[in-house]
Amino acid sequence: MSARLSRPASQSPERPGFARWLGTTNDVTQTFLSAGGVPDLISMAGGLPAPELYRVEEIAALAQTVIRDHPAETLGYGPVEGLPDLREVLARRFSSADLRLTRDNVLVTSGGMQGLDLLGKVLVEDGGLIAGQSPTYMGALDAWRPRNPTFRKLDLEDPAFDAVGALAGARFAYTVPNFSNPTGRLVGLPLRQALVDAARATGTWLVEDDPYGQLHFDGAPLPRMIALSGGDSPGPVYDGPVVYMGTLSKELAPGLRIGWVVAAPAMIAALTAAKQGSDMCTSGVTQRVALAAIESGMVDRAQPAMVRLYRARRDALCAALAEHLSDRFVWEEPVGGMFVWAVARDPALDTDRLLPLAMQAGVCIAPSSVFDPAGQDRRAMRLNFTLNPPDRLAEGVRRLAAALRRL
Ligand SMILES: Cc1ncc(COP(=O)(O)O)c(C=O)c1O
Repeated sequence: MSARLSRPASQSPERPGFARWLGTTNDVTQTFLSAGGVPDLISMAGGLPAPELYRVEEIAALAQTVIRDHPAETLGYGPVEGLPDLREVLARRFSSADLRLTRDNVLVTSGGMQGLDLLGKVLVEDGGLIAGQSPTYMGALDAWRPRNPTFRKLDLEDPAFDAVGALAGARFAYTVPNFSNPTGRLVGLPLRQALVDAARATGTWLVEDDPYGQLHFDGAPLPRMIALSGGDSPGPVYDGPVVYMGTLSKELAPGLRIGWVVAAPAMIAALTAAKQGSDMCTSGVTQRVALAAIESGMVDRAQPAMVRLYRARRDALCAALAEHLSDRFVWEEPVGGMFVWAVARDPALDTDRLLPLAMQAGVCIAPSSVFDPAGQDRRAMRLNFTLNPPDRLAEGVRRLAAALRRL
């Protein structure tokens, strides 16, 4: 828990205490996001894009144009569910022969994180059951913690995984099928189909959180679960159980804070009601920039260079790990995304204890405890390879090896 929140209540008895859930948080995300300000620290902890890929001049020019051309839309309040034109473009972007989407299937959110937060708001009441891929994205755990949920782990690696049993009775099932955060793994097609079938059979909403789907280094992308469930809707509009979430954060720039949810109209209406009490509307400036960036093809044009750069950085990180850490850790080379998940050979190794030593040595990692809903897995760490160039990744791994020798 962060020092600011753990101050004893007795120092200010006249003030009401903070909500109970704050006692169960950690400040690891705050540590990653501020790590850039620590001199010479090599951060391999966050899921941050390479800053040299930001299309600074193009986005600056778009921002100027959209404010001049659409002053009321960009500088005023806008519709809670997002600008109609952007919703329309997103509906078209994800439609296919099997998946019929209209703007009623789309909510624009302030980053992908807001979709997760709103989902907790509309589906989970005290103690409500969430079935989630495990280990899982800690931001999702952060978003749902105030609802005090109960977690059921979806062990997608288990060959005997029973999707119907795993989903039954849950308010929703949470998955990151493409290059999962934190493990970097891909959920295969048979399992995607089994999850969709189980969602249909049980009535449980199936969340497909997909920030990394475009960061596919090798081979063809697998079908989205929402497309696999497209045939569930006899009418002209998708009405199936999959709640698909996306974001421009990894494909273009996280600072725009533009994300989206694609789902059945009833789910979109519920999330819209929740968003009204959250931020009223997403920034009109960045929605218009996002719309122009998608429509002009900038987002699609950015992808090949991004994939080339990230593939080379993945290779550099894996080579450095093989050179310095293979006696202590095992990992799989991910075929996309932003992360390598390294598991200690020694079950007693504790990455929570490694973190402060690593920070002293000048490198930041994400320990496995923050991705475990129960906070107990201490044996692994998530390493990001997209933010730093190859020489810094190699130096980061050398520093990590030095910290491990001190552990
Ligand atoms: C699995 C997953 N979902 C959602 C998000 C949130 O992304 P955004 O920056 O769009 O809020 C992230 C960011 O790292 C993520 O890894």
